[in-house]
Amino acid sequence: MEIISNPTQDEIEKAAKALIDGHLVAFPTETVYGLGADATNEKAVSRIYSVKGRPTGHPLIVHISSIEQLKNWAKNIPDYAIKLAREFWPGPMTLILERSPLAKDFITGGQDTVGLRIPAHPIAQKLLEAFERLGGSGIAAPSANRFGAVSATSSDDVTDEIGSRLNANDLVINGGSSRIGIESTIVDCTRDAPFVLRPGAITGEMIENCLSTKLFLSVEETKTKFSGSFKSHYSPKAQVKLSGIAKPGDGFIALSKILTPSGAIRLASPKDVNQYAAQIYSALRLGDTKGLKTIVVILPEGNGLEEAISDRLSKAAFG
Ligand code: TXA
Ligand code: MG
Repeated sequence: MEIISNPTQDEIEKAAKALIDGHLVAFPTETVYGLGADATNEKAVSRIYSVKGRPTGHPLIVHISSIEQLKNWAKNIPDYAIKLAREFWPGPMTLILERSPLAKDFITGGQDTVGLRIPAHPIAQKLLEAFERLGGSGIAAPSANRFGAVSATSSDDVTDEIGSRLNANDLVINGGSSRIGIESTIVDCTRDAPFVLRPGAITGEMIENCLSTKLFLSVEETKTKFSGSFKSHYSPKAQVKLSGIAKPGDGFIALSKILTPSGAIRLASPKDVNQYAAQIYSALRLGDTKGLKTIVVILPEGNGLEEAISDRLSKAAFG
């Protein structure tokens, strides 16, 4: 595996070529790092599953560079989905749409829907453009972490998580820390109204304001197979606790205005909810690096990005 930092255009093109040749390329996005493969290459995509240790049959998000590509991967796209795409792409949102024949079972987990996203990170965009110039249609990319573990928000996280499982021709592109820090909002667009499967930086309120409609609300209503919907996910080795007081030797994560309990080890002091999201995964990783057994987290309160943070941390704390 080769690591490329702040890639030149030549290096971007080399990475795009590696994807076309069936290798894996981990790359930065504004949400978290993705582990990319050519989304039409079954063999390459199957390596994503083995490198991640992800159970087969869990669908992957296909990344594309422009809205024009939507119709290659999806059909019967509802008007409201186009509206969301125009408003929030490139950005931290994934749309679930009825699949076209291009989206094979090995991408969709055998479902008739496909997840699509246009990421905003300049390196991700350049990589997608170079890949498409070489004839590629889309890059399948889950978060670049082992299944069930904490997502990677830096290239060091990627190499710690999966570096030893990558091959000589695979690449890791270092593009700095992920600006947003938690995975994209996933919006199911296969019903009359949008339905948020996974909260993220594009909040329910932003979607409702964009469309002047109400969202579907209950997660129980969906039958779609959805790995982020496991109760336990995003878990560090340490036990995450969302209640109780941190004891001496426990890790502690809270907004900076909240004081550290005596003897506890502060892992992050974000000033606001945006910083909170951007720092949460690296703070959990830091707890593991320090070998802590318990990490106590004080959740931020609110129904914007706070909801996505609570979602991830509740899953990190489960079990
Ligand atoms: O921000 C993100 O979305 C990152 C970056 C790399 O783009 N990707 C990411 O991928 O978080 P992953 O595979 O870790 O999580 C994608 C989630 C999974 O829970 C998967 O089940 C769900 O999206 N998903 C993908 N396609 C789907 C589909 N057709 N129907 C329902 N859920 C789907
Ligand atoms: Mg993931």
